[in-house]
Amino acid sequence: MLSPTIEDALNEQLNAEAYSGYLYLSMVAYFESIGLKGFAKWMGAQTREEFFHANKFYNYIIERSGRVSLKTIDAPPNQWESPLAAFAAAYEHERKVTGLINDLVGLAREEKDHASEIFLQWFVTEQVEEEASVEEVIQKLKLAGPQGAGLFMLDNELSQRVISPLVAAAMTGIPAPAA
Ligand code: FEO
Repeated sequence: MLSPTIEDALNEQLNAEAYSGYLYLSMVAYFESIGLKGFAKWMGAQTREEFFHANKFYNYIIERSGRVSLKTIDAPPNQWESPLAAFAAAYEHERKVTGLINDLVGLAREEKDHASEIFLQWFVTEQVEEEASVEEVIQKLKLAGPQGAGLFMLDNELSQRVISPLVAAAMTGIPAPAA
């Protein structure tokens, strides 16, 4: 059983993860609009990962006999000045999410909710990877320059990204009911 405080906080994070998916889906549309199919594919994989994260919170709340409470998802921006500006925004967003996860871990500790603290450890590790993968693209974008052959090559490289089998399996249907 979840305490009302933890239940509320987990529902807030479910919403934050859904917003992340929405934000990256908007970036997919932006990359499509400027003909960068590889960037769009990379960000599409990122979008699916975010909805997978939201799904993990959804299932965990139910598993702990809590009540899922879906909230309004804010509209994300739909335009960026450049691919670099979009990835810089993604990086800032990931840093914000890392802060939210850290706050949640602190709250679980305060509430002596050890199960939630253990559940959240997956996200602590995931956020390290999330920030690193976006930062890696930013470094490459800076090397490639704003247009021309460098950007074309990077677009080709980013088109190779595949989503993990774990995420792919989780995205094949509606959230699984708790056992
Ligand atoms: Fe779900 Fe990118 O953090």
